[in-house]
Amino acid sequence: MRKKIIAGNWKMNKTVEEAVELAEELKRCYAEQTAIDMVLCPPFTALKSVSDVVSESQIRLGSQNMSSEDGGAYTGEIAHGMLKELFVRYVILGHSERREYFAESDALINQKVLKALEKQLRPILCVGETLEQREAGTTEQVVEQQLRGGLQGVDPMAFTELVIAYEPVWAIGTGMTASAEQAQEVHAFIRGLVRELAGTEAANAVRIQYGGSMKPANAAELLAQPDIDGGLIGGAALDASSFGALIDAATEA
Ligand code: 13P
Repeated sequence: MRKKIIAGNWKMNKTVEEAVELAEELKRCYAEQTAIDMVLCPPFTALKSVSDVVSESQIRLGSQNMSSEDGGAYTGEIAHGMLKELFVRYVILGHSERREYFAESDALINQKVLKALEKQLRPILCVGETLEQREAGTTEQVVEQQLRGGLQGVDPMAFTELVIAYEPVWAIGTGMTASAEQAQEVHAFIRGLVRELAGTEAANAVRIQYGGSMKPANAAELLAQPDIDGGLIGGAALDASSFGALIDAATEA
């Protein structure tokens, strides 16, 4: 059985003070829970403080991006070593906002995925189609291209570490969630593609999160789908009670 994984992507929200407050609230309830993997991904500026809060708890830390480079003259970038120093375990890579606003290509994202794996960080590789692409009937083609590009050269053994997040762009921050059926269909397609690329063991092991307006009201139904192994949460992760409700839903799923 795959362990469910719920990750909060705080995006460009929370001062250090606010981040610490949220992490502390979550730690009060979930410090010891091990039924699912629970990950917080604050902005870079709050990583150190949140790391200090969740150290010695079961709550894991993630970053929202990572450079494909080891270090040096890359203004504004953050390298793997800087993240590992803060006990970051997961890195969100290829989020649709990075693809859209910062022109990240599948090739660059692939470099980041390979670098993260080489350095024992767990990539959360995000894929997903826009509304236009869904309406044009090209969802599977788009997701396939993103996955083939992003996963090039990934060792089949790495699929126990690597997480894939299916985030339909039209569902992100819009309140429009994919129906459980729509999401399951794409998740099953993704697992099938991993089977083709890396074999049955990899396909059975890889965890595939759903992301896009996941909230307490729709989480149980999404998480009950056979190929949905968790959630990558934006808006509902910014508040301890809604994020907590998602942790509870995943624990019960
Ligand atoms: P929302 O949950 O706000 O739709 O964001 C989803 C997301 O982009 C998580 O990475």
